[in-house]
Amino acid sequence: MLVEAPALRRYWYVVAESDEITAGPHAVRVLGEAVVVWRGPDGALVAAPDRCPHREAPLSLGTVDDGCLSCCYHGWTFGAEGRCVRVPSALEGVPVPPKSHLPTYHVVERYGLVWLCLDEPVAGIPEMTADRDPTYRRINSGVDVWTTSATRMTDNFMDISHFPYVHVGTFGIPENQLVPKISMEELDADFYGYRYEAEVGNENGAASSGIAAKVITRQMTTGFNLPFTVRSTIHYETGLDHLILLCTTPIDDVTSYFTFVIWRNDDFSVPAEEVISFDRAIGAEDKAMLEKVPGVLPLDQTATASVQADKPSVEWRRQLAALING
Ligand code: FES
Ligand SMILES: [Fe+2]
Repeated sequence: MLVEAPALRRYWYVVAESDEITAGPHAVRVLGEAVVVWRGPDGALVAAPDRCPHREAPLSLGTVDDGCLSCCYHGWTFGAEGRCVRVPSALEGVPVPPKSHLPTYHVVERYGLVWLCLDEPVAGIPEMTADRDPTYRRINSGVDVWTTSATRMTDNFMDISHFPYVHVGTFGIPENQLVPKISMEELDADFYGYRYEAEVGNENGAASSGIAAKVITRQMTTGFNLPFTVRSTIHYETGLDHLILLCTTPIDDVTSYFTFVIWRNDDFSVPAEEVISFDRAIGAEDKAMLEKVPGVLPLDQTATASVQADKPSVEWRRQLAALING
C-alpha cells in the first residue's frame, strides 16, 4: 500500500477548508487514518485519531462545547491539545488515567486551508508569496473527493500533452498536440518544474483571462512540491497573473481529496465564482479521465512507457520514489 509508506507521514496535506471547521467535530481521512479535527477552547485547531481512548468510539460523532470535544459513548471530554479534561463516571478528585489523553497531530491553517501532518514534518507548507501581496486576491474552491490515486492526479497536473484530448471542452486545442522540448529547473525554493508557452482556446475562458480573443497565448510554469502539491502559474500579455495551487491528499491508495486555490492580481471586478468556474470545469475534465484509470501509478518507471513530453511527470515520479524508498 502506497499510503503506508512512513515517509509520506512527514509531509503536510490539506484535509479541509478552514471555514468547514466550525461548531462540531469534523471527520477526515488521510493516508488511510481516520482523524477528527475541531476548534479547541482558544479557537486553534486540534487534530487527533478519530478513536476515543476509552472504548474506541469515533470521536467525530461527539459534540463540541466551548472548544471541548465530548465523546458520544460515555461522555469523556477532551480540550486543548487533546487533554482529557473530564470523565463523567469518575468520582471527584480521582485523576484521569494517563492514557486518556489524545495523541495529537500537527495541524495548521494556511491559505484558507487546514493542513495536517501525521508525524514530525520534514518540510514546510509550500510558500505562495502572492498570499501576502495585497495586489492579489485569493479564491478558494472547496474540497472535493476524487476516486483516484494521488499519484495519478499529480502525474496529470504535471502533464500538458493531455490538453488537446481531455481539455477540448475548456481550453485545449485539438490540433496543438506537439509538446516542445521541456527543460526542468528550480522555479523557486519550493517548486521544481518548467516554463512554457501555451496557445489555448479562450472562448469559455474570457471571464478568467479578461481577454476577448478566441485563442490566446499564455506564459506558464508548472512545478511540483513533494509529495503531491503542484503549482501552475499563468501570465497573460495584459499583465494579469493567475496562480493555481493544486493540493492533493491521499485518503487511501485510490481515493484523494482535491482542492485548488487561486491568486490573481486582477482588479477584483469579476466575481470570484465566475473566475473559478473555468478552473472548476478544467478540473472536472481531469477528474472524469482519472477516475477511469485504475489503481496507483507504478513508481517503477519501467512499468510504463514515457516520451520527452512526460519529462516533468517522470522527474516528479523519480523524486517521489526516492522519497518513499529512502
Ligand atoms: S468510548 Fe468514548 S467515552 Fe467511552
Ligand atoms: Fe488536465
